[in-house]
Amino acid sequence: MLNENRPVEQLSEVEAAEELAFLAAELARHDALYHGQDAPEISDADYDALKRRNDLIEQRFPALVREDSPSRKVGAAPSLTFQAVVHARPMLSLDNTFSDEDARDFVAGIYRFLGKLPDHSIAFTAEPKIDGLSMSLRYENRRLVAAATRGDGTTGENVTANIRTIRMIPQTLLADAPDVVEVRGEIYMAKSDFAALNAEMAAQGRPLYVNPRNTASGSLRQLDAKVTASRKLRFFAYAWGEISAMPADTQFGMVETFKAWGFPVNPLMQRFSSADELLEHYHHIERERPDLDYDIDGVVYKVDRLDLQARLGFRSRSPRWATAHKFPAEQAFTRLKGIDIQVGRTGALTPVARLEPITVGGVVVTNATLHNEDYIRGLGNSGEPIREGRDIRIGDMVIVQRAGDVIPQIVDVVMDERAEAAEPYRFPTTCPVCGSHAVRDINEKTGKVDAVRRCTGGFVCRAQAVEHLKHFVSRHAFDIEGLGSKQIEFFFESDDPTLSIRTAPDIFTLERRQAASLTKLENIEGFGKVSVRKLYEAITARRSIALHRFIYALGIRHVGETTAKLLARSYGTYEHFGAAMVEAGSLNGDAWNELNSIEGIGEVVARAIVEFYKEPRNLKVVADLLEEVTPESAEIRVATDSPVAGKTVVFTGSLEKMTRDEAKAKAESLGAKVAGSVSKKTDIVVAGPGAGSKLDKARELGVQTMDEDEWLALIGG
Ligand code: IVH
Repeated sequence: MLNENRPVEQLSEVEAAEELAFLAAELARHDALYHGQDAPEISDADYDALKRRNDLIEQRFPALVREDSPSRKVGAAPSLTFQAVVHARPMLSLDNTFSDEDARDFVAGIYRFLGKLPDHSIAFTAEPKIDGLSMSLRYENRRLVAAATRGDGTTGENVTANIRTIRMIPQTLLADAPDVVEVRGEIYMAKSDFAALNAEMAAQGRPLYVNPRNTASGSLRQLDAKVTASRKLRFFAYAWGEISAMPADTQFGMVETFKAWGFPVNPLMQRFSSADELLEHYHHIERERPDLDYDIDGVVYKVDRLDLQARLGFRSRSPRWATAHKFPAEQAFTRLKGIDIQVGRTGALTPVARLEPITVGGVVVTNATLHNEDYIRGLGNSGEPIREGRDIRIGDMVIVQRAGDVIPQIVDVVMDERAEAAEPYRFPTTCPVCGSHAVRDINEKTGKVDAVRRCTGGFVCRAQAVEHLKHFVSRHAFDIEGLGSKQIEFFFESDDPTLSIRTAPDIFTLERRQAASLTKLENIEGFGKVSVRKLYEAITARRSIALHRFIYALGIRHVGETTAKLLARSYGTYEHFGAAMVEAGSLNGDAWNELNSIEGIGEVVARAIVEFYKEPRNLKVVADLLEEVTPESAEIRVATDSPVAGKTVVFTGSLEKMTRDEAKAKAESLGAKVAGSVSKKTDIVVAGPGAGSKLDKARELGVQTMDEDEWLALIGG
């Protein structure tokens, strides 16, 4: 390297300029190695020395400070991870169906929803469900411009450079393709390519890959597209997102179009018109499964006509017009070595089976869930016997079942192999972590005993507190890089007041507490200077956060991501939400009614939220947190342009142009609430022929009434 050892005072202007150019490039390279590849070449101290030298030279020659000078870079180094892409249309998942009977119900449900159709027959497509990862390929003016993973369905990762290395994906489309098209489908790795890759790994004495799906996912999420290129990924097109002009009016026609445009499509996709035919094809594909060169985990049925798909619409995360009929799960026998009790964020005691390792459907399983204590005892959710009442004991030979990505479970025991001395398992009645009583609540509504035993320790239980923190920093909550499980446990255990993190607000005061401390985090093993700086940057970056992430991070029981999003959209700001939840604590009145009227929020969830806001310690944590963090306001999404948004509607009598289900789904999609009975709160009663007491009641109360045609005219459809 250039003049490294020469004192800065002795450098000429030309030498200084040269060295600044060198340092800019060199520091950028080290940033990339550190941040992007997790593979630094130099120590933190050496990195700092380079930076210092850059600063010194700049101080002496201010006129030479470069555009790309390392001293000008503020905050975190540019992230070399994948950019986020907001999907033009969300990427949804599919509902599952697990038996022939359920599949028939799916078909019958579609007929029921749509009611009488002029031609009496609805066509469906059936095709394999590919076990890969979904991908959205966006073409503008017939050129591939972006490729994104599904992510959380709303936002995915931009993997365009990697996708361009897959030869079977067209880079350009033919002239007849519309200006904007998003072709969606599945990226996968062929079983034969996977086997060849593993043979190569074995020959080199390197660890083997687990299965084609995970390997495909890992291969795609490589920062270096050359790695992706070497992995031979493949693609099947089966769906679409935004599209500026529809080239077909059926599912089948769309896939045929994709094929004509040069996309690979699955040859086993066919069109049928009855449940019997769909099931016949399902069993045909099931028989073919071992001979296919790609993993599949079921068969997807879709309503063929796109106009009917539009009428059927969506539930919150999946279309009503499709379902995935899954293949039965795979099972294997193994020995139950022990039962561990894990304590979760909400205090639930979950029994986890420790197993003699066993391969189930190509994956090595060492742990499996045992659900709860009744399950171990041989009792189902309503106290009825399961497994003909057989209980599960340590030492038993058990049957492990694994289906797709679901956690493996123990489904049965082999009684003939039970040791005589085996004793019934005694489920603990105290928390194995904090020793508090662990109890089974009685459900207020049903009067039944809850299946789950919970630690009553709350905030004093270390396990609950730690799990809370882990949840708080997790990917869909605050997503703080550098605060993984290991670090959370370290900070939680620390007794040093300048280091400890016991509740979420402590995360945000850490840097301030550290500034005045003698025990510096950077001197503690596992934390270097650069990693501490990165951690503080990651924390600072979250001082402003999307409202739904904030709500989700609070870890309120039953409030998952979807519910958090609903709440954020309904209340708009944290001030509004927090105040309303405290007010709703009376379990009646406007705030409580408003909460319950949110589509997708039932009473159990509503109760859990107001319970959370009744606990003074929770209020204190939230108040402290708000001193440090600002939740951004969310866009309130009521379909405000719809004339029925926010109105309560009752349908009565018979409807002639649509079925009751369809009317309800349509009204709800326009932001209305559909109720079953008429009260003072009802805004509109839609009455068809044969309407009786509900219509009378509406007139009595002076509620607006209309017939089906007037309703359709009102909603413009
Ligand atoms: S259709 C709106 N068809 O399964 C519905 N999905 O569980 C879009 N998948 O995220 C999905 N094979 O990644 C569809 N033939 C197929 C599929 C398929 C695999 C995946 C897809 C989706 C997931 C849903």
